[in-house]
Amino acid sequence: MDRKLNIIMMASECVPYAKTGGLADVVGALPKELKKMGHDVKIIMPKYSSIDPDKFKLQRVQDTMGVWMGGVQEWCAVDYTMMEGDVPVFFIESWNYFGRDGIYNDTNNRDFPDNPKRFAFFTRAALQLCIDRNFQPDILHLHDWQTALGAAYQKVWHWNEERLNKAATVLTIHNMAHQGHYSKESYEYIGLGRERFTSNQLEDNGGVNFLKGGIQFADIVNTVSPTYAHETRSSRLGHGMESYLFYKGKAYVGILNGVDYENWDPAIDPHIPANYSLDDRSGKAKCKEALQRMFNLEVDPSIPIVGVVSRFADQKGLDLFYDAIHQSMRNMRVQFVVLGSGDKKLETNYMQLPAQYPGRVGTFVGYDNPKAHLIEAGSDFFAMPSRFEPCGLNQLYSLKYGTLPIVRDTGGLADTVDQYDEATGHGTGFKFTDNTPQAISNTIGWAVSTFYDRPHHIEVMIQRAMQKNYSWEQSALKYEEMYHTVLSWRGLS
Ligand code: ADP
Ligand code: GLC
Repeated sequence: MDRKLNIIMMASECVPYAKTGGLADVVGALPKELKKMGHDVKIIMPKYSSIDPDKFKLQRVQDTMGVWMGGVQEWCAVDYTMMEGDVPVFFIESWNYFGRDGIYNDTNNRDFPDNPKRFAFFTRAALQLCIDRNFQPDILHLHDWQTALGAAYQKVWHWNEERLNKAATVLTIHNMAHQGHYSKESYEYIGLGRERFTSNQLEDNGGVNFLKGGIQFADIVNTVSPTYAHETRSSRLGHGMESYLFYKGKAYVGILNGVDYENWDPAIDPHIPANYSLDDRSGKAKCKEALQRMFNLEVDPSIPIVGVVSRFADQKGLDLFYDAIHQSMRNMRVQFVVLGSGDKKLETNYMQLPAQYPGRVGTFVGYDNPKAHLIEAGSDFFAMPSRFEPCGLNQLYSLKYGTLPIVRDTGGLADTVDQYDEATGHGTGFKFTDNTPQAISNTIGWAVSTFYDRPHHIEVMIQRAMQKNYSWEQSALKYEEMYHTVLSWRGLS
């Protein structure tokens, strides 16, 4: 276990450079932790035009790099910076593919039609960079469909390349619903050869499936919680990948995400008006007041606030939550604050709520990190009514901020939130199983009535929640173990 590893992380998002969701948090935090453990870790990501070269002190390290795609030679440049925690980050620059607003979608939330080309190209370019700069990785760590093909490229094209072929490939799946499933016309450019366009490799219902290819070619696959690893082995949540995952056997595992407590700790959070900790929670009341003011809610500490910060996507169940808000408004003394963006219809619906329930519901449509922090700190409860949730980070932040989660009992939410027991006061949150507005509003009602009628239970739950430790240290140890396991399977340890 002592051997220090040379690890390359390839991903489409990484905090602080580009983020649409939790993937970026993970890719920004895990490498720092592995580095602390003595490993050499480098990140490779695309250079989106939203990344400010001055702010992040980017330096050009390669003006031209040639990348072979199916039948065509493409060109790109490479920039570099050093991330906090001494982790080098390399950026693949291609004006054609990344010089536009948006990471995956245009401003109307429509997928860019050339996404298969953009991410196949990025993945191949990242491997080329490893060769050109002689990185000699032990581990090629891929994240989600965008870089999943890295495993196939390594095995198909680089099996004989000394600078790459001693690496074991690890694919982390953060979300089974996003597979990179495209028409067969995209396949030629990907450049993996006709003979691999088969149903047990990259073909899926007549098209190409990046994630499936990654699952089939990677030496080991993991997802981001044990329960989601279990759930995705069956058709209910496997999104068609269940049989491939099932056949991976021991080569498919669940490792819970951690929290970057340097960014998410109310004791040091620079985004909130007053810091607080388990020992002195007085600052939380100030945060609640600031939240009520910011969202034009009635300023009253005695009314519980339920907060939400989320992508507006089918996965997150916010369509059901919208109906649950209407139901809760009828008979509960409660306030809601919702921050999110994505689905246009949901954006419109949520934008209309403050006018319908003045002083009781506050919403903000958009992406706003400081507001996300204030909602975590100022709310009493934090809701995640997800249809499925591979891990979920916000419930972990909520625990640290003493904001009790109200969650659907699925995936990482099931693994990290302990159900409240009315008889004993045990637990750290409120869980429900049905995917209905009624189940959500009943559970909100349960939390709200506990707030009013059993404040002593709320008090001990907050204390218990704030003591939970989901630091990356523990998760990084599990990743390290997985790396060593897969290296030994391949005879590379
Ligand atoms: P997912 O990755 O599925 O979106 P997670 O819970 O793992 O879900 O991570 C979501 C991350 O994105 C959290 O850090 C959360 O605070 C952040 N986030 C989501 N929506 C917004 C938003 N509208 N504004 C600011 N932060 C957001
Ligand atoms: C995905 C999942 C989320 C997870 C995140 C980071 O976006 O939806 O549950 O926490 O990735 O792994």
